Amino acid sequence: MSYAELYRRSIDDPEGFWMEQAGEIDWVQPPSKALFADNAPLYEWFKDAQVNTCWNAVDRHVEAGRGDQLAIIHDSPITHSTKGITYRELRDRVASLAGALRAKGVEKGDRVIIYMPMIPEALEAMLACTRLGAIHSVVFGGFAANELAVRIDDAKPKAIIAASCGLEPGRVVHYKPLLDAAIEAATHKPDFTVIFQREQEVAKLIEGRDFAWHTFQYGVEPAECVPVSGDHPAYILYTSGTTGQPKGVIRPTAGHLVALNWSMKGLYNVGPGDVFWAASDVGWVVGHSYICYAPLITGCTTIVFEGKPVGTPDAGTFWRVMQNHKVKSFFTAPTALRAIKREDPNGEFIKEYNLKNLQALFLAGERADPATVEWAQQHLGIPVIDHWWQTETGWAIAGNPLGIELMPVKVGSPTVPMPGYDVQVLDEGGHPLPRGELGAIAIKLPLPPGTLPTLWNAEARFKKSYLEHFPGYYETGDAGFIDADGYVSIMARTDDVINVAGHRLSTGGMEEVLASHPDVGECAVIGVTDELKGQLPLGFLCLNKGSNRPHEEVVKECVKLVRDQIGPVAAFKLACVVDRLPKTRSGKILRATMVKIADGESFKMPATIDDPAILDEIAEALRGLGYAKA
Ligand code: COA
Ligand code: AMP
Repeated sequence: MSYAELYRRSIDDPEGFWMEQAGEIDWVQPPSKALFADNAPLYEWFKDAQVNTCWNAVDRHVEAGRGDQLAIIHDSPITHSTKGITYRELRDRVASLAGALRAKGVEKGDRVIIYMPMIPEALEAMLACTRLGAIHSVVFGGFAANELAVRIDDAKPKAIIAASCGLEPGRVVHYKPLLDAAIEAATHKPDFTVIFQREQEVAKLIEGRDFAWHTFQYGVEPAECVPVSGDHPAYILYTSGTTGQPKGVIRPTAGHLVALNWSMKGLYNVGPGDVFWAASDVGWVVGHSYICYAPLITGCTTIVFEGKPVGTPDAGTFWRVMQNHKVKSFFTAPTALRAIKREDPNGEFIKEYNLKNLQALFLAGERADPATVEWAQQHLGIPVIDHWWQTETGWAIAGNPLGIELMPVKVGSPTVPMPGYDVQVLDEGGHPLPRGELGAIAIKLPLPPGTLPTLWNAEARFKKSYLEHFPGYYETGDAGFIDADGYVSIMARTDDVINVAGHRLSTGGMEEVLASHPDVGECAVIGVTDELKGQLPLGFLCLNKGSNRPHEEVVKECVKLVRDQIGPVAAFKLACVVDRLPKTRSGKILRATMVKIADGESFKMPATIDDPAILDEIAEALRGLGYAKA
């Protein structure tokens, strides 16, 4: 079947299309139908089924004779170690951990927060939760204690599973003090924590509250896979919105299984026994879908990589991992390739390794800039496939369906909509725009299986954030266009979310932190273009009347404040003090204009600007930081 036929069928006959895909999942009780629309515009898929995620990702492969195949390879250039875990070992380890969690009272529906670095135990913790029907919420290790506390208060976990430390190049990230501070700061208190002690750092445990990973499992009854209904949340993953309060994206169990299983065949073109590597982090959606769940659901070997594209030890690390583990499909963020390209512009390292197993390179997480895509095409000689998606969708909205047919690659476009996504470009009034015209990208409801049904404890926010602006559509928050061949291009966000090294961050959240500094009266954060990371946050600070502190001191304190409150991942290092911020007459800060000035782009003077002279002051301040070069 061609892509065009397959896509058409998914839109014209979603029921038939997705029920057919559901045939590849092991159900305890199969769904009677695919789509449940009785609560529209909220939709659910396979709601009346009974199923278990962990069974489909682990146990069924052992039953099918794949017990001796590697499920996970951990490759850590930071600790100079590599180890493999077979499907049988994985099943036994996960069943034991789940049994220990159950023995301490964790049951179906309970939340468990996971705060761990890139070690196999992070995946085991996730799978142990889904084995019990407990709902995990993984928090990225680069977030500070305060961000963890916000998530603890929202998810109200019964337990938290953490590691003693994470390892960044040249720096040990002390997780346990961060965890202790987060629990201290949160209103909700978990019943207990489980700490995986790494040899690089043994954390101090609080008696009665903290349990060590291994002793905690001693003598427990392994847990079986607990069936849950199709709409049961497999996990909650928090992502940045326009405010400091993150959005708890819910992943529904059955749709997740069916959609990820389709994506591995249809998009990534991999099957049982293939080695799949997504070089991201379990704290992000890419890590959930394509380090943990999808490769395991498919019976692949997945790689858990603890390292960086450069510096661990060099720009050849990625290629070494691909050669040594015979990677067939590789997935990373464009920023990682930019980092490699900067150190190895002629691809000398690539030539040192045998990449004969590598079939395709997939890019996502931010716009794939043509120069980077072309560099990879030239040096790897395989398809370089950009694909576009979001935490909310859990799998690609648009991509190049390698497993169906490789569509001609148009550099700069993530190609075509994936099955079930009716992607449209709308004007401000919600009317579809002609091909080629730039507008807001929206998806006609219902979204396909696997996508978010709502936000955790925040249905009104879900409707307001995604459904109300364009009734009948899901608003993606991205702007772009669709060309005459139906290819989608994603150009920018329509909100105040920025993308730093493939990490999605809220400028509103950073502004909330800056505003809490005693000398700051008003502030704005914008995302300026950065060659390596795509964007970088830059803060403008207006000091309170009467503040006579040296500006450099306030800036330094503000940088530290964001690092302490949000975390190093915010990469907030640039700020300047200005007298005033440019605003419209109604008081809205003109952030988009400030971005254009910073990036040295031409812009139209906003008609509603209060005082145009302020823009000169902003440009002056930006020049002081090395920006606003015309
Ligand atoms: N735990 C603790 N801190 C972390 C962390 C983690 N898991 N991950 C990143 N950080 C820290 C980094 O050490 C860095 O701290 P620093 O300010 O002390 O240097 C900071 O957060 C910013 O991290 P990041 O923006 O990721 O930069 P980096 O220096 O770690 O790596 C590149 C940058 C250029 C190598 C980048 O190309 C890269 O690979 N980024 C990751 C891309 C990615 O996987 N995105 C996920 C979406 S698919
Ligand atoms: P996240 O939820 O962290 O995965 O971030 C999702 C956002 O990243 C999207 O809404 C886009 O703004 C951006 N993004 C992800 N993939 C792409 C891509 N292939 N091209 C352009 N932007 C992308």
